[in-house]
Amino acid sequence: MRTHYCGEVTESLIDKSVTLCGWVNSRRDHGGVIFIDLRDRAGIAQIVFDPDKAEAFSVAESVRSEYVLQVTGTLRKRPAGTENTHLPTGMVELMVDRISVLNKASALPFQLDEADVNEGLRLKYRYLDLRRDVMQRNLRLRHRVAKSLRRYLEDNHFVEIETPVLTRSTPEGARDYLVPSRTYPGQFFALPQSPQLFKQLLMVAGFERYFQITRCFRDEDLRADRQPEFTQLDIEMSFVDEEAVMGLMERMIRSVFKEVLDVDLPDPLPRLTYDEAVSRYGVDRPDLRIPLELIEVSDLMQNVEFKVFSQPAKSASGRVAALCVPQGGGLTRKQIDDYTAYVAKYGAKGLAYIKVNDAGQGRDGLQSPILKFLPDDVVSELLTRTHAKTGDLIFFGADHAKIVNDALGALRIQLGRDLGLLEQGWKPVWVVDFPLFEYDDESKRWKALHHPFTSPKLGESADFDPANAYSRAYDLVLNGSEIGGGSIRIHDPEVQQRVFATLGIEDQEAQEKFGFLLEALKYGAPPHGGIAFGLDRIVTLMAGMESIRDVIAFPKTQKASCLLTQAPSPIEDIQLRELNIKLRRPLEKTKADEAG
Ligand code: AMO
Ligand code: AMP
Repeated sequence: MRTHYCGEVTESLIDKSVTLCGWVNSRRDHGGVIFIDLRDRAGIAQIVFDPDKAEAFSVAESVRSEYVLQVTGTLRKRPAGTENTHLPTGMVELMVDRISVLNKASALPFQLDEADVNEGLRLKYRYLDLRRDVMQRNLRLRHRVAKSLRRYLEDNHFVEIETPVLTRSTPEGARDYLVPSRTYPGQFFALPQSPQLFKQLLMVAGFERYFQITRCFRDEDLRADRQPEFTQLDIEMSFVDEEAVMGLMERMIRSVFKEVLDVDLPDPLPRLTYDEAVSRYGVDRPDLRIPLELIEVSDLMQNVEFKVFSQPAKSASGRVAALCVPQGGGLTRKQIDDYTAYVAKYGAKGLAYIKVNDAGQGRDGLQSPILKFLPDDVVSELLTRTHAKTGDLIFFGADHAKIVNDALGALRIQLGRDLGLLEQGWKPVWVVDFPLFEYDDESKRWKALHHPFTSPKLGESADFDPANAYSRAYDLVLNGSEIGGGSIRIHDPEVQQRVFATLGIEDQEAQEKFGFLLEALKYGAPPHGGIAFGLDRIVTLMAGMESIRDVIAFPKTQKASCLLTQAPSPIEDIQLRELNIKLRRPLEKTKADEAG
């Protein structure tokens, strides 16, 4: 139907006859001449209708935005002064002899070049939204990233193997999406939160190097970087330790960044222990583009008169930390109040501060409501430790360590953005040496920080103490986003049973839920480990987008619905009956939400 793509017509084709197909990007009438920007997958070409070619001209008069056209004509150089140097095709235009309207288009619900279109509208008419330049670029980038990852893994002898989607629950910490079974009334499949157990079974089966680019399903609270169904690059290897997995994986990530973005990531990638990350940045996925750090001052505050500081400073589970903001002295009272309200969301009861008006004058150069509580030696050590300079401001958090870390960790990010401290570029970091368990105050139980198949770091003895045990897990963090996580697994059924016991999973329950894995571990399971990357998150970062919805063709809303297909949707009574399901509450007559 065409001889060339719109984006390809250049001066080499001048005086040639060319046929193009595409969509009307825009149409302009100029003193009797009609100009149309015709768009296809390759770009835009300017096509021109002269009133002398009456038949084509009159059709061109009737076309509207997004009509689908086929046009034939002769390519010519644009008249001097009308060239567009921003377009690869900007030196030429097609003088149309023949036009056929392949299809009309109704008036669009939004203009494709409109900024800030409501996201609900974009998702409802996603096929139009996807016509936009930025979305075309994002999905093509996604394709290139997946292709590059796949090629790297193939070159390194990995086998791509599919695992079931109708399966049993895999514990990754979220709620399951469930699918009722018709053949076993009252029983349910779970959609996989990850292929974790199957990939371990593939190691028992002897494949040694497995990968899969696969959908995972998690019914959890959604945020800008979370979708209920998302794509993992899932990987597992046998006869490896942490170094082997991390080494190969960072070479893969470096190679993809080089190939797709021509970016050189550091070699080797830097590492932080979990404890260090939390102590210095308040979180286990630090954004290292922000040059601010939490500074430990618990030891300084143990004996100060200010109980708000001295109590957590003395408590084993408490923490007092400082955050020095360069040139933060300029913050107004109102701004400080706003930041105080911001950290309150993380449980902080206040946000003490000291303004450094003149660092040379020691305590006389400081201004703060809490200065009166702090003795000279504390003040002086504080200034030394925080490296505070004239014009800076020091914030303080004092509470349970978790509250201080959450509050100051979030404040650090917010200040970094507000004060324009965010450095350009890429800051990857491995976070290693995670605790094996964390204590859940609500359920009064130990929970696995990763998943329960993660190997403990065992010393001489094969035993571990839940409160102090570390795991052989590693996360890869890029610009403050957790893009991947994995671990060396337990391959000894006894250790696996001991971990289950610590998690309060009784033998019988363990047998019921994971009996097949425990059984498999008995038949010569090799030492193995792996990792899974969030493909959507990696592409979001590479594309410079804020939300993973912008790199997924048909994403769900924040309330886990699809505005395009109106899923989820009610089903017929007869279907329910077939599935032996009776609704506990009558169906609410709601439609899938707007963007929400
Ligand atoms: P994990 O739960 O850390 O590990 O998941 C791996 C990576 O998947 C991405 N991710 C998500 N992306 C978008 N939306 C979500 N809801 C979402 N949840 C997770 C993150 C994360 O780092 N089986 C283990 C891996 C292993 O141990 O090998 C697992 O699933 O980028
Ligand atoms: P107050 O004694 O309540 O007037 O508090 C004095 C200063 O300490 C104020 O700036 C409060 O914001 C701050 N503050 C109170 N509680 C905390 C806390 N837990 N952590 C950090 N600062 C606090």
